[in-house]
Amino acid sequence: MADNKIIVITGVTRGLGRALAERWLSEGHTIWGCGRGRDGIEALRRQWPDSRFEVVDVADAGAVAAWATRCLEGGGRPDFLLNNAAIVNANAPLWRVPVDDFGRLIDINVKGVFHLIRAFLPAMMERRRGVVINFSSGWGRSTSPEVAPYCASKWAVEGLTRALAQELPAGMAAVALNPGIIHTEMLDSCFGAMAAHYPDAVTWADRAAPYILGLGAGDNGQSLTVPGF
Ligand SMILES: NC(=O)c1ccc[n+]([C@@H]2O[C@H](COP(=O)([O-])OP(=O)(O)OC[C@H]3O[C@@H](n4cnc5c(N)ncnc54)[C@H](OP(=O)(O)O)[C@@H]3O)[C@@H](O)[C@H]2O)c1
Repeated sequence: MADNKIIVITGVTRGLGRALAERWLSEGHTIWGCGRGRDGIEALRRQWPDSRFEVVDVADAGAVAAWATRCLEGGGRPDFLLNNAAIVNANAPLWRVPVDDFGRLIDINVKGVFHLIRAFLPAMMERRRGVVINFSSGWGRSTSPEVAPYCASKWAVEGLTRALAQELPAGMAAVALNPGIIHTEMLDSCFGAMAAHYPDAVTWADRAAPYILGLGAGDNGQSLTVPGF
C-alpha cells in the first residue's frame, strides 16, 4: 500500500482503540498497539500476525520504553501516536474517591500519555514528521459531578498537549481530541443505562478513522472533536 502509515495506539484491547486498530489494519496500515488485557492482545495477534501487539501498562514507564525500543529497532517511525488508553473512576463525589484509585487514574490518564511521548516522540522528531493525538473528552473542557478525577486528568491532557504543541518543530503536530460520546465499557461505567443510546465503537471508527488520518501540521495545538459525535 503506497501510503501505509505506522500508527501507535494505546488501549487496543476494546472500545475506541480496538475499533480504530481493526479498521486501519483492514486498510493495510501498520499498528503498534498495547493494552493490559492478555486475552485481548493475543486475540489481535492471532488475527493480525504481521502487526505488533504487546501487553504493556502505560502507567509503567520502563515497560513503555522497552516496548518502544522493540518497535523502533526495525527502523520504522510512527506517523501517528494515539494516546487513547484511559480509565474512568467509579462514579463518586470526590471526597469519597479512594486515594489509591485517584493515584492510579492519574498514573494512566496523565502520566501514561507522558510515558508514550517520552518513548516514541524523539524517534518521530528525527524525521520532523508525525502527529501526536492525545485523547481528551467533553470532560476535558467541561465538568460533571462524580467524575472529578477523570475531569482533572483530561483537563491535564489538554494543557499538556497545548504546551507540547509549542515545543514541536514545524511539520509536526500535537492535538487534543475529544472522540465524542460512544457506547463503550467506559461509557457504561459513567452513564449507566443511558450508555446504550449512543453509537457503538465500530460505527464511530467509520467516521473517526479517516478524520484522524487527515490531521496534520496545520492542526498543531488544536483542541478538536470528532465531527458528528
Ligand atoms: N467512550 C466515550 O464516550 C468517550 C468519551 C470521551 C473520551 N473518551 C476517551 O476515549 C478513549 C478510549 O475510551 P473507550 O471508551 O474506548 O474506553 P474503554 O472501552 O474503557 O477502553 C479503554 C482501553 O484502554 C486500555 N487501557 C486502560 N488502562 C490501560 C493501561 N494502564 N495501559 C494500557 N492500556 C490501558 C483498555 O485495555 P486494558 O484494560 O486491556 O488495558 C482498553 O483497551 C479514552 O481516552 C477515553 O477517556 C471516551
